[in-house]
Amino acid sequence: MKGGYDHFMQKEIHEQPEALLQTMRGRVMFRRPDDEPSAYVAGAASRITLGGLVDTKATIRRARRIMFVACGTSYHACLAARQTIEDLVELPVVLELASDLLDRRAPIFRDDTCVFVSQSGETADTLRALEYAKTRGALCVGVTNTVGSAISRATHCGIHQNAGYEIGVASTKAYTSQVLGLDAKVRALAETLRDSQSLLFFARGSNYATALEAALKMKEVALIHSEGILAGEMKHGPLALVDEHMPIIVVATRDGTYAKMQSVIEQLLARDARLIILCNEGDERMQGYAAGSRCQLIEVPQTVEQLQPVVNIVPLQLLAYHITVLRGHNVDQPRNLAKSVTVT
Ligand code: F6R
Repeated sequence: MKGGYDHFMQKEIHEQPEALLQTMRGRVMFRRPDDEPSAYVAGAASRITLGGLVDTKATIRRARRIMFVACGTSYHACLAARQTIEDLVELPVVLELASDLLDRRAPIFRDDTCVFVSQSGETADTLRALEYAKTRGALCVGVTNTVGSAISRATHCGIHQNAGYEIGVASTKAYTSQVLGLDAKVRALAETLRDSQSLLFFARGSNYATALEAALKMKEVALIHSEGILAGEMKHGPLALVDEHMPIIVVATRDGTYAKMQSVIEQLLARDARLIILCNEGDERMQGYAAGSRCQLIEVPQTVEQLQPVVNIVPLQLLAYHITVLRGHNVDQPRNLAKSVTVT
């Protein structure tokens, strides 16, 4: 069942390229730069089709705002996607943690489109928030990974993460081998961090979600206290934690926040911080920071800005995995946690 891997978490990290391909299959029509337009049927190039939303597209377009509702890692996925969705739909996009939405009985209107994101489709808080949004007359859309789950049945329409028809032009093998190449380096890094009491992740923009998700993984499997910090808030408190002992992982891949992240790194180095910088391959500026200082690099392939967080999270998941194994904790069943949280 583990297909040659030691743990399910390790197997599932390595399965991500194939999972992404399955999610896109039949929905995303790529046109590669070297493709002749004639390779595709007229008008079909570079477009996305989500069959489950075709009938409600007009209602979604008329919405006053799009509200994403989720818990845990699913919430982080919404956070990572927010900017891209705002850019594409040109509507306000708000994010809600399901439990907090319910505690506040937050206002929801008939002309809202509420999107409920849940891997299992069974999370109790997300399901209750969905029932609440329905009573307010909002259009309720599900994004789940489980066909027939409670959330997929209760929503008006939705997207299954694995459904779809034909297509998909992606270099799975090459991508997977890049991740595997990264693994050895990340394992060596895990050795140096295995006894840490606490770890901080600094990032900005859509990689703030990367920082939160990496910190969550570090807590839930490695059982290490960890925080994801929006680097723009650094001087408003978190900087006080910085010293030469606390390991800090800074996400500084090339995107709109790159220049600001350079400044963050310089300020942290000036305080003799123990830095690990996650950057794009061949980034000479970051290599310069690493030369002659205690700073280490994790280098990842560069992709389009909107998708860079998808790549960035992979080595951080692996880091949490390896630290967990080195500390001798149960990777696949962390203490006190269940896979689906079906009670509140
Ligand atoms: C963390 C984790 C949880 C879930 C959360 C929501 O690794 O698995 O934070 O993401 O319980 O679960 P779903 O997506 O099934 O609604």
